[in-house]
Amino acid sequence: MIQAKNLHKYYDKLHVLKGVDLHIEKGEIVSIVGASGAGKTTLLQILGTLDKPNVENGTELQIDGENILQLNDKALSRFRNLKLGFIFQFHQLLPEFTALENVCIPAFIAGKSKSETEAEAKRLLDYLGLSHRIDHKPGELSGGEQQRVAVARSLINKPAVIFADEPSGNLDTVSAENLHQLFFKLRDEFGQTFVIVTHNEELANMADRKLVMSDGLIP
Ligand SMILES: Nc1ncnc2c1ncn2[C@@H]1O[C@H](COP(=O)(O)OP(=O)(O)O)[C@@H](O)[C@H]1O
Ligand SMILES: [Mg+2]
Repeated sequence: MIQAKNLHKYYDKLHVLKGVDLHIEKGEIVSIVGASGAGKTTLLQILGTLDKPNVENGTELQIDGENILQLNDKALSRFRNLKLGFIFQFHQLLPEFTALENVCIPAFIAGKSKSETEAEAKRLLDYLGLSHRIDHKPGELSGGEQQRVAVARSLINKPAVIFADEPSGNLDTVSAENLHQLFFKLRDEFGQTFVIVTHNEELANMADRKLVMSDGLIP
């Protein structure tokens, strides 16, 4: 599903990724842990096509069979919209839109019809136990509910991979545990692939594979 080779990233003279190699199978849940500043977010942003690596000899990035480094910006945006889902520490829902509208937005960007999209968004919100909250705005939802709306939004276009950066970093223990169980349920039921950066040891250890990042490398 993901094949990355010799990924480098410089911010000016700061060498943040120093040649990361990574191979992730479809349906795998991989956790990435490591000290603050190790480069985890930078790596996730590059795997998620939100940022670009510095290309060196042998640098490669393939996701779901697509050679990411050869896509122009327009093709990259479309690929990201259709194939990738994102869950961040702070849900990044749009505050002036309802839960239902937030979930629908990536599908509208993909050009899907309103009726088809709303039906699918309602189905997802229902599946995530939020059918009674669909008309509420993020500010009226608990942290755990907001994060489940963000999960529904990440799923609306049936992505090949979901990237999560500290998804439970802002949640209480019970909401965090529920969110973690949800990831595994989504994997078991739909074969969803996850790459999760986390400081939560329990989540990191539940994953199929735990990768430890240190000083810009995954040894
Ligand atoms: N946009 C940026 N510009 C300059 N330096 C950055 C930028 N983003 C991250 N860094 C630096 O890159 C290093 C790795 O950051 P990051 O990937 O956020 O680490 P982590 O997520 O593991 O804590 C840090 O030293 C950070 O200060
Ligand atoms: Mg980070």
